[in-house]
Amino acid sequence: MTTEQSTQWWRDAVIYQVYPRSFADADGDGVGDLPGITARLDHLAGLGVDAVWLSPFYPSPQADAGYDVANYRDVDPLFGRLADFDALVARAHALGIRVIVDLVPNHTSDEHPWFQAALAAGPGSPERDRYCFRDEPNDWESIFGGSAWTQVEDGQWYLHLFDVRQPDLNWNNPEVRAEFVEILRFWLDRGVDGFRVDVSHGLIKTWEPSDKVDAPPPAIPDGPEPMWDQDGVHEIYRSWRKVVDSYPGERILVAEAWVDPIERMARYVRPDEMHQAFNFAYLLASWSADAIREVVDSSLAVCQAVGAPTTWVLSNHDVVRHTSRFGYADGTLPRNGIAAADPQPDEALGLRRGRAASMLMLALPGAAYVYQGEEFGLPEHSTLPDDVRQDPTWVRSGHTVVGRDGCRVPIPWAAGGPSYGFGPDSRSWLPQPPAWDRYALDRQRGVEGSTYELYRAALRLRREYALGAGTLTWWPEAGPDAVAFRNGGVVVVANLGAEPVALPAGARVLLASGDLDVDGRVPTDTAVWALV
Ligand code: NOJ
Repeated sequence: MTTEQSTQWWRDAVIYQVYPRSFADADGDGVGDLPGITARLDHLAGLGVDAVWLSPFYPSPQADAGYDVANYRDVDPLFGRLADFDALVARAHALGIRVIVDLVPNHTSDEHPWFQAALAAGPGSPERDRYCFRDEPNDWESIFGGSAWTQVEDGQWYLHLFDVRQPDLNWNNPEVRAEFVEILRFWLDRGVDGFRVDVSHGLIKTWEPSDKVDAPPPAIPDGPEPMWDQDGVHEIYRSWRKVVDSYPGERILVAEAWVDPIERMARYVRPDEMHQAFNFAYLLASWSADAIREVVDSSLAVCQAVGAPTTWVLSNHDVVRHTSRFGYADGTLPRNGIAAADPQPDEALGLRRGRAASMLMLALPGAAYVYQGEEFGLPEHSTLPDDVRQDPTWVRSGHTVVGRDGCRVPIPWAAGGPSYGFGPDSRSWLPQPPAWDRYALDRQRGVEGSTYELYRAALRLRREYALGAGTLTWWPEAGPDAVAFRNGGVVVVANLGAEPVALPAGARVLLASGDLDVDGRVPTDTAVWALV
């Protein structure tokens, strides 16, 4: 690391994702809220994270759990008030925790005043030009299922790459661009340390700029790809980078860009663009040493090529929790939810592998993302009744894709109590499974070997040995079924094979995700950090 890089906190940070609906409910309505988060920030300080990323808390009809924003400059009463947000930031900063908020620029809610104005103003109006209205739809499909186009009363169609209630903005319209710069400034002025940018790869579609008023309306090309990862998105992020850089204290932009191959991801983190991009290639890797080594190598290489830190992520609010994803002995890798009627993950196997996977991730150089509840070893709720599902994917796919509710269930803080301490009573916007006592924080705090204590120790040692700022050198002696490397003076061995793996001679174990065997070797599905 250069001197300049060592002051850039985000290069090796551990960033904890809070999903406000499901973190902690202070007012007892069954939905988590900002005061609930503030009251639990001590937990995050105790865990040792550097920053929190808050999923959306803005006024919203909640058609997509808040990723449908009706007002970008306020807090939904469901979650509190702006004063609660200010109090959250103040408390987090007092604890040394930075705060990243979610920015949703690809689409608004259909209840956003701009969309309401577009509907009222009619075809050809400047109000319609802020969105993607056309006289004819094409064959583009919504990510959540069904057509990406919906017709309005006067016959025109609007584009929604997600839910029908999430109309896509027209990013070729200068007013849209100007508005989002102001939104960035609004939150930067309130003290936020950065933005996670939703659907970063979707803002520009391939049709011609709309400011060519004399030109006939451009034809929309058919086909699945022209709406993703277009080159035009990058100039938007370059302009935003200038905005965040004009504020003191290393504020950051983080790309949520589901792009492929991984070289495309690196384009979002070139020096004058965003600071980080989620490493979804890593998240998607199967529980295989070859697959993991390969994606670690390619991630490090493509990020190094542009001077950006690599990020690592295993779970978030859009995918099956990694403890359940890795819970299939036959290698099944569920991604879009698990239904009660589906083959169920082996909970013990998933937890064992999940703990090893987390230790492996937290030892890699770069920044790491932790999703709320993963520090408890929380599995997916894989037997949710269909009639409580709220993810729009479930309805839009004609009840064929169960979607993401299973990873969004309110998390357990206290064993025995109603809603496991999520709120003051039994209310919880999604039902929690019956047997979550053992995952509750109060069952794990101070208990040697608990997943919570494992995460806490891992974050402490990661800091102590500067693993996030280190460099990785593979240690092939551990054999083909292990993911093993040195990072500074620490050797990391994760054994994904059937045979135990010996540590280097004289190694002193710092932390292990499970017991070693009688000969001090690393057993199957176990990870160890040791000093050599
Ligand atoms: C990505 C978000 O993470 C997801 O939850 C949301 O549904 C889509 N973007 C649309 O905003």
